[in-house]
Amino acid sequence: MADWNPEQYRQFAKERGQAFYDLLEMIEPAQLDRAVDLGCGPGELTTAAAAQLDVGEMIGIDNSPAMLDKAAEHVSANVRFEFGDQTSIARGLRFQPALSVAYP
Ligand SMILES: C[S@@+](CC[C@H](N)C(=O)[O-])C[C@H]1O[C@@H](n2cnc3c(N)ncnc32)[C@H](O)[C@@H]1O
Repeated sequence: MADWNPEQYRQFAKERGQAFYDLLEMIEPAQLDRAVDLGCGPGELTTAAAAQLDVGEMIGIDNSPAMLDKAAEHVSANVRFEFGDQTSIARGLRFQPALSVAYP
């Protein structure tokens, strides 16, 4: 299967990001220990979510090596990224909340 192209994806970052920000608005503000962003893509929005939700530990999960390469630029004290398949991770999920704006 072809990998994602982060540069092409970013051409429409504003339009695509709106769905993510709409999702964030639905989450009640609270200090959260951990949260996960399934299908995190290039990581900018994962970082924005960590800040807006005041998350102690935010983990972005994606199965695209190209997207994770870009996401690595956004690693910080409370944000990290891992390779993984969101469909299998979601089954045993112990995170709250779990965000996901991922579509093929
Ligand atoms: C449309 S992008 C969304 C990226 C980011 N959530 C955003 O809103 O900008 C979809 C992302 O989901 C990832 N993805 C799709 N299916 C996945 C799966 N089964 N497991 C992990 N990541 C997946 C893709 O690699 C891609 O980075």
